[in-house]
Amino acid sequence: MRPYSISSTRLLIIAALVSVWALPVSAPVSAAQMQEKIADYAAEARAQDNNFAGFSADRGSILFSSSPATGKPETPSCTTCHTANPTGIGQTRAGKEIAPMALSMTPDRYADAKKLEKWFRRNCTSVLGRVCSPLEKGDFLTFMATQ
Ligand code: HEC
Repeated sequence: MRPYSISSTRLLIIAALVSVWALPVSAPVSAAQMQEKIADYAAEARAQDNNFAGFSADRGSILFSSSPATGKPETPSCTTCHTANPTGIGQTRAGKEIAPMALSMTPDRYADAKKLEKWFRRNCTSVLGRVCSPLEKGDFLTFMATQ
């Protein structure tokens, strides 16, 4: 028997095991947590406005790329740090890399509610000069979920 001969059945089993192992295990979990957060924002948005009719990826896209000129001059837009392309790698003002905001590129994003709230508060205050509303946060996540 040759020492390195592997039967094709064994190869198939190995290939199957490797592909299961290589699946991004966290993806379905964080997507569910993100959906939970979106549902929370929807409840808050409805409480603020009876006419709330659901989130919009288009509005989220506009929020992401707009320059409202109401925040700090050095951070005119979300895209200042996150780049104009949601699937692109961003950069902090100190030059540190920021993983893409698109859920497809960074599947474990938006899964940690504390982290999410912290950065929404901080970044909306920098760019808009105020915190984001539940409607804006829900629109933003809805947009990033499609990217
Ligand atoms: C000054 C740079 C900067 C600007 C401007 C900025 N961000 Fe961020 N943002 C960051 C950094 C740094 C992080 C944390 C690092 C990470 O999550 O990879 C982050 C994280 C986030 C997160 C948390 C993501 C998660 O995984 O939970 C959200 C949401 C977010 N930003 C939204 C926005 C929105 C909306 C705007 C525009 C209103 C914006 N950011 C503008 C730098 C910025």
